This record gives sequence, C-alpha cells and structure tokens, in this order.
Amino acid sequence: MKVIIQENYDKMSEWAAEHIIKAINLHKEDRPFILGLPTGSSPIGVYKKLVEANKAGRVTFKNVVTFNMDEYVGLPREHHESYWYFMHDNLFDHIDIPRENINILNGLAEDPEAECRRYEEKIASYGGIDLFMGGCGVDGHIAFNEPFTSLNSRTGVRDLTEDTRIVNSRFFDNDPEQVPAKALSVGVGTVTDSKEVLILINGHNKARALAHVVEGGVSQMWTISALQLHNNAIIACDEQACGELKVDTYKYFLDIYRSERL
Ligand code: GLP
Repeated sequence: MKVIIQENYDKMSEWAAEHIIKAINLHKEDRPFILGLPTGSSPIGVYKKLVEANKAGRVTFKNVVTFNMDEYVGLPREHHESYWYFMHDNLFDHIDIPRENINILNGLAEDPEAECRRYEEKIASYGGIDLFMGGCGVDGHIAFNEPFTSLNSRTGVRDLTEDTRIVNSRFFDNDPEQVPAKALSVGVGTVTDSKEVLILINGHNKARALAHVVEGGVSQMWTISALQLHNNAIIACDEQACGELKVDTYKYFLDIYRSERL
C-alpha cells in the first residue's frame, strides 16, 4: 500500500485529482473507464479540481462510467442530503459526463436487495471498476461498511451505527434521529475487487483510522484495513491525519514519495 502524505487538504485534493485525470487520460481502450466515487466532505476538494480540469479541457468524462459507493435508504433524490443530490451538485452537473453513464444506488427501490444485486451485476458487466476513490469514517469504515462488516461483503443493505449517525448529523440539523438508519452500500469486497483503490484520509479526526489502516492488522473492526490485501491501493492524506502514525512510518512514506518525484 502506498501512502501519499501532503501538507494540507488542498494539496491532498490536488494530488488525488491529478492522479485520476492521469488514469482517465492514459486509458486508451475502446471500453469506457470505470470510476468508483464517494460522497462526504473529504472528496469535495477533488471534485472542485476535476470540474476545473474538465472546463479547462484537460480531461473529458465522455468515456467515463461512474458507480457511487452508497446512498441513504428513504431519501428522495431531491433531498439536499441524498447522495444523488450531493454528486450532481458537486460534480455531475458541472462536467461533460453523459447522464446515462452515472450509476447511483436507488435508496427508494421497492426491493432494496434486488437493487443491490442489479448494481453488482452492472459493475461486473463492465468488467469491474478501474479506479475506486473512497473516503473513510472516523471509525475506519469504508462506504457504509461499519465495523464488523465482512471484508468480503458485496453491495447490500446496511444498518448505520449510532456513531455514524451522530457524526453525519452535522448535515441533518445536528439531530442524529434525522439521519436515516439504513443505507445501500457497495461491499468491502466490491471496493477491493477494483483494479486500483484510492482513499482520501484527512483531518485530525481521522488520525486513529489512518494509523489502524497503515500500521494495524487487517481487521473487520476497521473495514478500511482490507486495503492491506490489495495490490494497488493508495492512501492520500494530509499532515493533520498523520498525528497517530509512528514517526518512522511517517518518515518512511515521506521519503518514498520524495524519491518517486525525482
Ligand atoms: C459516510 C460515507 C463514507 C464516507 C464517510 C466519511 O459515512 N458513507 O463513504 O467516507 O462518511 O465522510 P467525510 O468525508 O465527510 O468525513
């Protein structure tokens, strides 16, 4: 696993956006580039930079198909906190992606289990995901795969923990009761099946999660730690998130990154 440490949130976002732009531009096959995407505050900076690059003609999304990680159960698309709304507001409405190339789980599906199966089948029909970008919860969850979710899990219905509802209540009038109790989410296995995984981890409140994923063992308690078993996983983080890393770990990844730039 590579860990790319950047000075601050802006630089981390720039690094990740440039990485994605390069991957899309290097993709010369006839089939589309398949990109997995997250919501949350962590990717907002990356989305801003992707929009700028698209407007500047440095990258096009015409041959990109996206799959989002998750969606709350019970929120209509127009709800300000639905992930459908978030993605259109922060990215899709500002880039040249064909609308039919956008895939987001339907949190209002009559048969949620069937919706999740359909999603997995659609990903498989494209031959899998080329690059899955993600974020990470303070408890080390990836997508909505809370602690103790199987590291082999596939797309399915998830119960949100009280912790996650409290953390996410900042978007729901600070009232955890307003945060939906369930979500549809890709599985840990869905993410790690991707050819490449890029996870953004920033801010003091993610320092414990970063230390667990980088220095701890692979554990269902920190579902993001499944990345350790992936052959092509990158964590892009900022200095603030490094507070719980050992000094040697921190120096090691800084040195590697510097030598790769030469
Ligand atoms: C939610 C999402 C995750 C996201 C996490 C962290 O739980 N389901 O995909 O990574 O929040 O969000 P933030 O980036 O706002 O810290």
